[in-house]
Amino acid sequence: MGGVPGGLQPLDPIDTKRLEAVLRHKLPGLRVLWTESTKSTNRDLLHSMEDDPETGWTVLVADYQTAGRGRHQRRWFSPAGGLYMSVLIKLDDARSPVTLLPLVAGLALKEAVEAEAKQRGGSITLRLKWPNDVLSPNGKLAGVLCESQEIRSGWAVVVGAGVNFFPLDAEQQRLLLYPSTSLQEEADLDWTRSGLLTAFLPRLADRVEAWKFDPSTVQEDWLKASDAKGRRVRVKSGKDKEPVEGVIRGVAENGALIIMEGDTPHIVNSAESIEELDHE
Ligand code: BTN
Repeated sequence: MGGVPGGLQPLDPIDTKRLEAVLRHKLPGLRVLWTESTKSTNRDLLHSMEDDPETGWTVLVADYQTAGRGRHQRRWFSPAGGLYMSVLIKLDDARSPVTLLPLVAGLALKEAVEAEAKQRGGSITLRLKWPNDVLSPNGKLAGVLCESQEIRSGWAVVVGAGVNFFPLDAEQQRLLLYPSTSLQEEADLDWTRSGLLTAFLPRLADRVEAWKFDPSTVQEDWLKASDAKGRRVRVKSGKDKEPVEGVIRGVAENGALIIMEGDTPHIVNSAESIEELDHE
C-alpha cells in the first residue's frame, strides 16, 4: 500500500466504524474496510472469499486503485478521491446470480446517486445502459463489475462499483471506449464517499432481497430505469463476431438483453460493446 499520488490527502476518508454502526440495523454483521491504495478492491475480496468464514457483507473501499478492473478485461481508471468499492455477498441459493445480479447492482447504484443528489439539495438525471453502466446525458458516471464463484453453501459474489467523483485527465479520456463524466461535472454538490456508501448499501440489500423473492421485479425496474425499450443498438459480442443491429425489446428472466433485428430475435448474454443509435 503506497501513499496518495502527489502527496494529496484523501478528501473524505471513510470512517468505517461509523458506517458499520449506521448501517448495522439493515446489514447485521456488516464489515467495512478502508485502504488508501490497492490494485483492485474486487481482486482483494475475490482472493479472500474462500477462507472468509463471515456470512455478513464485507465492503472494501479504496481511495485509489492502481489496476482497477472494468468489464471485458478493460481498465477502470481510479484516481484518488473517487469511490471504488467492492461488496462480498454470500448467497445461500443454488440459482446462479451471475446474470441478474449486475442489473440489481446497477439499479441500486443509480438510485443511490440520485437520492444523494436530492439529499444534498440538487438533482441529477441518470439512466442505465445494459447491463449496468450508470450514464448521465454527458457520459458514463459509474460502472459495476460483478464476479462470482460457487462455494459449498451457494454462491459468493463480489459486487464492485466505481463512481467518478472528478473528471479523468485528457489522456485517460482518450483511452476510454465511452466518454466519461463525474459527479463534480454533473452537479456542484457536497458529494462524499461516506454519503454515497450510506445511500448505496441499504438499497443494494433491498434490491438483493427483492430479487431473491421475485426476479421479475428486476426486469421491470431495470427496463424503466434504462429507457432501453425501443432503442436501436449495434451490439458486438466478440472480436471476431459480426455486429448485430436491432431494437431492444426487453430483458429476459436471466438478465440477457432481447433485441429484434427485423423479425429475428437475438438474445445477448454478454457484449463487448453496445453502440446506442436512435430511439423509436
Ligand atoms: C465497468 O463499467 O467496466 C465496471 C467498472 C467497475 C469498477 C469497480 S471500482 C471497484 C471495483 N474494483 C475493481 O477493480 N473494479 C470495480
